[in-house]
Amino acid sequence: VQTDEDFRPNFHFTPEKNWMNDPNGMFYLNGTYHLYFQYYPDKNVWGPMHWGHATSKDMITWEEQEIALYPDEKGYIFSGSAVVDKNNTSGFGKDGKTPVVAIFTYHDPEGEKNEEIDYQSQAIAYSLDEGITWTKYEGNPVLPNPGIKDFRDPKVTWDDIHKQWLMVLATTEKTIFYSSQNLKEWTKISEFGENTGAHDGVWECPDFFPMKVEGTNETKWVLIQSLNPGGYNGGSGTQYFVGDFDGKTFTPEENMKALEEKHNFWIDFGRDNYAGVTWANIPEDDGRKLFIGWMSNWLYAQEVPTETWRSAMTVARELKLIKDKDQYLVTSAPVEELKKYRTVDYLIEKFNISGNSVALDKEDIDLARAEIRFKINDLKETTYNFRLANAVGEEFIVSYDHAKRQFSMNRSHAGQTDFSDKFASEIATAPRISDSDSLSAIILLDKTSIEMFFDDGKTVITEIFFPNQPWDEFSFASLEDFTVSNLEAYELEFNEVE
Ligand code: FRU
Repeated sequence: VQTDEDFRPNFHFTPEKNWMNDPNGMFYLNGTYHLYFQYYPDKNVWGPMHWGHATSKDMITWEEQEIALYPDEKGYIFSGSAVVDKNNTSGFGKDGKTPVVAIFTYHDPEGEKNEEIDYQSQAIAYSLDEGITWTKYEGNPVLPNPGIKDFRDPKVTWDDIHKQWLMVLATTEKTIFYSSQNLKEWTKISEFGENTGAHDGVWECPDFFPMKVEGTNETKWVLIQSLNPGGYNGGSGTQYFVGDFDGKTFTPEENMKALEEKHNFWIDFGRDNYAGVTWANIPEDDGRKLFIGWMSNWLYAQEVPTETWRSAMTVARELKLIKDKDQYLVTSAPVEELKKYRTVDYLIEKFNISGNSVALDKEDIDLARAEIRFKINDLKETTYNFRLANAVGEEFIVSYDHAKRQFSMNRSHAGQTDFSDKFASEIATAPRISDSDSLSAIILLDKTSIEMFFDDGKTVITEIFFPNQPWDEFSFASLEDFTVSNLEAYELEFNEVE
């Protein structure tokens, strides 16, 4: 049986101690990536929310910092964002120091207890030392509650096209858009969300930004909109919409105007990527859209079998907007920075599979910190299995059924599951978005998670598990013989980080 530290990931951020949920306030400044997060420092379950803080030079190895924001008499500090206010539009700058401004939700637990509806409002704080210490603005809240019960998770971006600060806010079943010139006064400009998308839960944690369509000069706007419950596999999930924005109103593409509950536009189809948003202030000459999500699900997050801390973040990912035939799609891939941690490699050009064939075992690669890439050409109308197994007979199976164009993930025998009847009782599924007849995969394995990027990130699946022994075997299986080409596996090494 594994102890807590055996479950602590090698290259995914976890707080040293206690409870974490959503990523918050991510920004980049002077060589450092900042990540804040919903944090309860006193217990390993959700409680009065703070913003914890971590920093990194490459979004892969993180250093936890002092708590950034504490709850106060106005309430808990719920999710939100941060921006680097280069032109000092807020007036918080002093002595030539650039203010970083955090925009968050105050959640008043008293109001909630008394069954009021206006207990969430938006507030700001600023930092003059690059995100280490923060001063809450004395004029808070900057956006009082207008009489809406779920009114939270402000994500602010500088809209350089229309020269305004934009805030998207999640409100039960809609995204509300606001604009501002100074981050203090906000004007409502529009709403989005009626009659489209998944609505089997409360909308939370939106994000909104323009993106260049890969290989073109076309710009489209992307709205990311998490919801809980009502994700693709139930519980927490993150859908997205692509469209146009005229500075006031977001108009989705024709094929996204009337999406049904179980549509195919999800940042991740797995059960464990929630509330993810993008980094602010990435330099123009970098230009990437960088994303991180919370690698858990509200269905069971508070019961997972770690006591010291609870939850990890996903690997940081680069989002791209592509046009595939007539469809706009947001794809993801692990950030390039991960590659510099590759050590041992294992490369096979062609690997013939007959029945069940072990492709990698613990002599080849430590599967507790591995990157695996492969391709299967000339797909047949059959089911392909990718399987992780360990010495105590546990297994995690991903299947791809090419007749149904569907992936499925079975973690019911992947180790500890009895902490929650919601964890492994169902087989999760994901549609294959690409219609190519070859399947490519990038798979990241850490001790308690698998992140799978199929077809250049068109179908992404993130799942967690708690095996009682480390995985020591990765195999392929199918009823028909087939060939895996370009199998590459890398062991990732994180000990000697300068
Ligand atoms: C999403 C969420 C947010 C909220 C935060 C509270 O997981 O429910 O809507 O701000 O968590 O911790």
